[in-house]
Amino acid sequence: MRHIEKVADMAAAARRLASEGKSVGFVPTMGYLHDGHLALAGEARKENDVVVMSIFVNPAQFGPGEDFDSYPRDLERDAALAEKAGVDILFHPSPEEMYPEDSDIRILPGRQADVLCGASRPGHFDGVLKVLTKLFHITRPERAYFGQKDAQQLAIIETFVRNYNFQLEIRRVPTVREEDGLAKSSRNVRLSHEERQEAPAIYAALKDGARVLRESGDPELVLGMVRNTLGRIPAAETDYAEILEYPSLRPLNPESREAIIAAAVRFSGARLIDNVLVTMEGKTS
Ligand code: PAF
Repeated sequence: MRHIEKVADMAAAARRLASEGKSVGFVPTMGYLHDGHLALAGEARKENDVVVMSIFVNPAQFGPGEDFDSYPRDLERDAALAEKAGVDILFHPSPEEMYPEDSDIRILPGRQADVLCGASRPGHFDGVLKVLTKLFHITRPERAYFGQKDAQQLAIIETFVRNYNFQLEIRRVPTVREEDGLAKSSRNVRLSHEERQEAPAIYAALKDGARVLRESGDPELVLGMVRNTLGRIPAAETDYAEILEYPSLRPLNPESREAIIAAAVRFSGARLIDNVLVTMEGKTS
């Protein structure tokens, strides 16, 4: 596996691969890899000649007071895991390398970013689109891989790439979970023992909600139920629990074909997000 730190070197490698007719599968990450990231790399490995993974904790997507400084980092461990997962090029630039000048050009997502995490993390998705625009231009992928766990991010990226004619396909990869259902996340390491015991209740509440939504078609009933269950997790505070149409992230309506039930929950050490998608067969009430 080749390590690249400089933008110019990564761009040159991508140009060379393109001239050789090789397809690049790109896995953007912020590191501290877990099985969810390795599943993205596994999918990329199956479909492309070359797998490029980036590791970059992107300052542009963290707000003031968020966990940019304390975000877990371990490049040596990540490199070993990435190599085992079949990554060919690991691109890990510094913030100065990625953002050499304080650009005042902004990339603003649309109304998909006004809800869920976007409502409580203003500017977060601007920062995600900013770094991905740069990473897509630098790495020239044919396909890029994103986890369904970050469902709002995925929906916004799909819209962005489609609307702005980026020449790549976005691949959705299902959420990878611990045996007890907790979605794998780099932030899980920051849960206390007690919080770790309680955290699987998030997915349990969402799964129950999905079942009741399928049975009843009644989003209000489901929302009340999910909020109530999340509210009973002793060490947690619910940031939001919502049901929306997916991937538009508009309010659910009788014509909606797919719904997302999504939640964000704050523990002392970490804010966790999770979601489930529900195919709407009948009409919602
Ligand atoms: O999902 C993440 O880890 C980040 O938001 C991403 C896509 C790597 C952009 O920094």
